[in-house]
Amino acid sequence: MITLGIETSCDETAMCLLETQDNQYKILGNIVHSQIETHKEFGGVVPMIAKREHIKNLPIIYEKILKDSGVNENQISRIAVTNGPGLEPALWTGILFAKDLGKRLNIPVIPINHMEGHIVASLLSTSSTQKDFAELKPLDFPTIALLISGGHTELIEVDNIGSYEVLGATVDDAVGEAFDKVARMLELPYPGGPEISKLAEYARNNNIDKQISLPRPMIHSKDMTFSFSGLKTAVLYTLKKIENVTVEQKQDIAREFEDAVTEVLISKTKMAIEKISTQSLIIGGGVIANTHIRKSFEQLAKEYSLSLYLPASGLSGDNALMIALAGTIKPSNDYEGFKADGNLSL
Ligand code: KG4
Ligand code: ZN
Repeated sequence: MITLGIETSCDETAMCLLETQDNQYKILGNIVHSQIETHKEFGGVVPMIAKREHIKNLPIIYEKILKDSGVNENQISRIAVTNGPGLEPALWTGILFAKDLGKRLNIPVIPINHMEGHIVASLLSTSSTQKDFAELKPLDFPTIALLISGGHTELIEVDNIGSYEVLGATVDDAVGEAFDKVARMLELPYPGGPEISKLAEYARNNNIDKQISLPRPMIHSKDMTFSFSGLKTAVLYTLKKIENVTVEQKQDIAREFEDAVTEVLISKTKMAIEKISTQSLIIGGGVIANTHIRKSFEQLAKEYSLSLYLPASGLSGDNALMIALAGTIKPSNDYEGFKADGNLSL
């Protein structure tokens, strides 16, 4: 069976052609077109510009993926498309494209929750460019998923693929959003996560003096709720006290910010591990590209003897492979009439 995955929830126009046979999957084509350069000058994603770019790019990417993979569109058996959460004008572009194509090819169109996509992305045992058949990593339930992206920060109890319970989420900013906002304060380009990460790495590798300290919001609260807006404000106040911020001070702030975020994520995840008594941990979302956070979770997994499921290279950020994969797992019920839902929850 060949599934076409479509992802347009934010600023990536992405498509994937995924072939599945028994429990094996093969990537026939996987394209992620980033709009970062278009949004950069605005310091963040502008929903109506994202919509315009998706509308322009979807047919071009569709033609290209068919041509590059040598797949005839009549071989496609189903379409999986993100219907939320995300920017609604952007989500609609993918949904309308998918529905038109589904009608023309007379095949089902399956709505996929973007966050479920991030969960299943971490179960793929291959990289985004692997061309052979491969199996999903074996996984026992229940397990826990920590989802950390530009729009979300949540700990999920996963009782099965498709069966989720939110254990805790952020009450304000998402982790990635905090990275992006702090980066803007430090006058770093968008998206800020990788930029902060670079400065923080430099500070760690070169033992830059630790001059500032930031709070670890809600680290002692007894629940799995997160809050990152206070941390962002603490960076703002720290910067206000300094007249001319030096590069070293920026590196120091970046490292301290990353440490604060990591400690909170680790502490809340420990709570979830102890509550669910699981032997595994899934982490998904763009922020897990962060080297320090990744290493810290590898350490945590060792400490608790957990199997750790992380996205392979090229699959932590938004992509359509994860949407196609989720679409192969979900039954092809009649989903006619489904809509974009910017706040769709798991
Ligand atoms: O999952 P994703 O690609 O899109 C959403 O669904 O939001 O995540 C994007 C977020 C952005 O906030 C970006 O700054 C952050 O992931 N990010 C990082 C790193 N790479 C991307 N944050 C910290 N360190 C990184 N290396
Ligand atoms: Zn995402």
